[in-house]
Amino acid sequence: MHRRQFTKLLALMACPLPASVLAQSDGENWTEMFAEAVREYPWLAAWGNVEQDRYEADAVVRGNWPEALQGVVYRTGPAQHEIFGYRNRHWFDGNGMVHAWRIDGGGVRHQARLIETLKLQAERAAGRALYSGLSGAPPGQAGLTGPNDVNSGNTSVLFHHDRLLALWEAGSPYEIDAETLETRGIYNFEEPGGGSSMRGAPFSAHPRVDVDGSVWNFGYASAAGLLVFWHIGADGALRKAGRIAVDPMTMPHDFVVTEKHLVILLPPFHFRPAADAMGFLDMHEWRPQDPCRVLVVDKNDFSSHYFLELPAQWIFHFGNAWEDRSGVIRFDGARAPDPSIMTQTFTEIMRGNPDYGRAARHYGYRLDTRARTISEESMLEPGVFTEFPSIDPRVGCRQYRKLVFLSQSEADLAEHGTLNEVNLFDIESGRRDWFRYPDTQIPEEHLYAPRPGSEPESGGWILGTAFDWRRGRHIINLFNAEGIADGPVASAELPYAIPLGLHGKFVTG
Ligand SMILES: [Fe+2]
Repeated sequence: MHRRQFTKLLALMACPLPASVLAQSDGENWTEMFAEAVREYPWLAAWGNVEQDRYEADAVVRGNWPEALQGVVYRTGPAQHEIFGYRNRHWFDGNGMVHAWRIDGGGVRHQARLIETLKLQAERAAGRALYSGLSGAPPGQAGLTGPNDVNSGNTSVLFHHDRLLALWEAGSPYEIDAETLETRGIYNFEEPGGGSSMRGAPFSAHPRVDVDGSVWNFGYASAAGLLVFWHIGADGALRKAGRIAVDPMTMPHDFVVTEKHLVILLPPFHFRPAADAMGFLDMHEWRPQDPCRVLVVDKNDFSSHYFLELPAQWIFHFGNAWEDRSGVIRFDGARAPDPSIMTQTFTEIMRGNPDYGRAARHYGYRLDTRARTISEESMLEPGVFTEFPSIDPRVGCRQYRKLVFLSQSEADLAEHGTLNEVNLFDIESGRRDWFRYPDTQIPEEHLYAPRPGSEPESGGWILGTAFDWRRGRHIINLFNAEGIADGPVASAELPYAIPLGLHGKFVTG
């Protein structure tokens, strides 16, 4: 795309969110309601408020941490849920905290820092909560000039071309110093030769790293009715960007990339701005009678694209995708029947009301790019609900066989009622091996860590953090991927716990 086109795109991106909504606050004291609920359900502390701006400690290690496992687990997540007495009305509205778990020949050192976003700075300067979020609004809220006003960097991280970025769903990346975790500010990908005409354009929290080391991503601008697509070279430079109009717009969270295509599911959660909306989610309407659109985009030419249809569904995350020589794409995702987990569960949990919505089951999708058809099929037995799929990063965007994910089994729920199993699933054989966490621990996303020199999807480890609500400690566990059912072979425990985060990446050291 030429510079002139970039500039035009930028002008469209500049459209702010609708002045969301200067609706009245609900006037309730959720801080008190939550504190009371924690006394009854102590595991709710996992959604409590972070106590400090920064943390640093050597973890107490147990078991056998292999010498060959060297690197850093970088993670981010909503952590500051209460701002000058105002408790956020949605889990994902929390100010972000970025973490580094540094694993080095047997030792594990942890650091964490709140991300110094524009939002955090503005709130501190004002001495109060300022903005409406996904749900709810503080008293006397300020108007928004654009998505980055409320960008908290709390959703995932990308480590690319030696640069650590904290990502949020609908705004720009924040650059983080990979050593100190200090926030350097909003990051703009530059074009070759300098300049950044995509400044401020949305860059989603789930970019995909291609076989050649380049990065693909999308972003959505609701008010402009546009999806943006990005291609960043392995050298960190912006190679290409483009846009596709989507009407009605929705809230896509993740997408998949194959050898030739980008595929993004668009659930029928239609953007319908309303003057009395209490938050961004309230500006959307769930229409289960409408299809889930499937946008298929040619990687080489964003203008070449088409839509297919699936039954209505809500998807946060995909594991991976690949395309065979006959043009058939296979991918997988955690498929929920509706967005109630987003619209209800993650709001109610902030109030201290554990009211779990309709959870996701893991599905496989088959998309024929020549016949232009798509079908879906459940990959696991009924009663097993999944989230946080991940893969050996060496098979990203290409043929894969193994999936790591968290799950919960209807027949054996944990006391805390949420995800409590970590799995290694073999797509070809259908074999699922898993470890059930003790009820006193709530696991977070688990990642596949390749063993140096090994074949992809072979001989690796699985690394995952967990919140031990009984002990008030955060831990990181290490599993042998092929022996996951045997439980952790090593662990490391911090002298503190930090509210549950979202996503991370393991960066080999
Ligand atoms: Fe996510």
